[in-house]
Amino acid sequence: MIVLGIETSCDETAAAIVCSERGILSNHVLSQLKEHEAFGGVVPEIAARAHLDHLDTLIQAALMDAELSFDDLDGVAATTGPGLIGGVMVGMMAGKAIAAARGLPFISVNHLEAHVLTPRLTDKTAFPYLILLVSGGHTQILVAEDVGIYKRMGTTLDDALGECFDKSAKLMGLPYPGGPNLEKMAAGCKDPSAAIGKYNLPAPMVGRAGCDFSFSGLKTAMRQYVEKLPPGDLIPEDIADLSYAFEQKASRIVSDRLKHAIIDFKKSYGNGPLVISGGVAANKALRSALKSLANQEDMEFVAPPLGLCSDNGAMIAWTGIEKLKAGHVDSLDCAARPRWPLDPGAEKKIGAGVKA
Ligand code: KG4
Ligand code: ZN
Repeated sequence: MIVLGIETSCDETAAAIVCSERGILSNHVLSQLKEHEAFGGVVPEIAARAHLDHLDTLIQAALMDAELSFDDLDGVAATTGPGLIGGVMVGMMAGKAIAAARGLPFISVNHLEAHVLTPRLTDKTAFPYLILLVSGGHTQILVAEDVGIYKRMGTTLDDALGECFDKSAKLMGLPYPGGPNLEKMAAGCKDPSAAIGKYNLPAPMVGRAGCDFSFSGLKTAMRQYVEKLPPGDLIPEDIADLSYAFEQKASRIVSDRLKHAIIDFKKSYGNGPLVISGGVAANKALRSALKSLANQEDMEFVAPPLGLCSDNGAMIAWTGIEKLKAGHVDSLDCAARPRWPLDPGAEKKIGAGVKA
C-alpha cells in the first residue's frame, strides 16, 4: 500500500510517499524559518501563504524522488488538524483535490496522532506503549492502545514544553526557532554542576500526585534570572549556563511525571515500550534522561530519528496507511479542525485549554 502524506499545520510544508512494506520512499520538508525569523515566531497568515506557494512543487518532488506517479498511489492523507487553520486548509484542500481527481481514498489525519504513530513507522513498535508527546503546542502522556485508541494520562495545565523552550530562548535573545538554538547553547556549557548551582530553577509539579505538567513557573524563573544578569546583550557563557540548567530542569520535571505514569501503565498493561515523540523529542538531554528512566524501569526506549521528530509528511502518510488498513476512509466534505483531542473522553483540566 502506497500513500502520499501532506503536512501544513504549522511552519513546515511537507510531502512524503510511504509504502506499507518498504517504508519511506521520499520525504520532502521545506522549513519556513526565513519567513518567520524577523517576527520571532510563526505568523499564521505568512505560514498559510508560504504553504500555498510551495506545496505543489513539494508533492511533485516527493513523487519524482520515489519514482512514482499519482497512478501508483493507494490513498492521499493530509493533516486536517489541530494546527494553524489557514495552513491546515491549504494542505487539506490539496489532498482532497488530488483524491477527487484521481478517485483515491482521502484520509483525514490528526497531526498529534501522526506523532504518536511515528515509532510504528520507524521502529515497528507494537501496541500498547506509553508515549510522551512533546511539541510546540502540546505536552501529553498517553497510552497508545491501538490505531485511534489513545488514553491520556497527563497533560500540561499551562504552556507546552516546546513553547517553554521557545519563550525561554527568546528571553535570552536567541533567534527563532528557540528550542534547537537553546540546545546548541547548552552544549557549550563548560561547568555543568556550577551552572546548576548558579541557576536554581524551580521544578513545578515534581513530587505531586498524577502525571500533569506545568511549565509557566519555569519560564517565569528564566525571566527573573535573565533580568538579574547585567543589562544589554547577555554574554554567551551566561546563556550557555542558563540553557544547560533549563534543559536539566525540564528533563527532571518530565522524568518525574513519567515515573507516575509508568506505575499506572504497568498496573493496567503489564510492560511495554516507553516512547518519546514530537518536535521536542529531538532534544538530546531529554532523550538521554528518558533513556535512563526506561533502563531503570526495565522498559524498551524508542525515540524516532531526529528528522522524524519534528513535523514531516512521512508521519502523515504512515498514519494514512494505518487508518486505511483499519478500513478508515474520510468523506471529501470532512472539515479542518483547529482543536482535535486524541482522547476526547479525558477529564477536562482547568488551564489546559486547547492543549488537552
Ligand atoms: O512537532 P513540532 O515540529 O511542531 C508542532 O507540532 O508543534 O514541534 C516544534 C517544537 C518547537 O517548540 C521547537 O522549538 C521544538 O519543537 N524543538 C526543540 C528541538 N527541536 C525542536 N526543542 C528542544 N530541543 C530541540 N532540539
Ligand atoms: Zn508536530
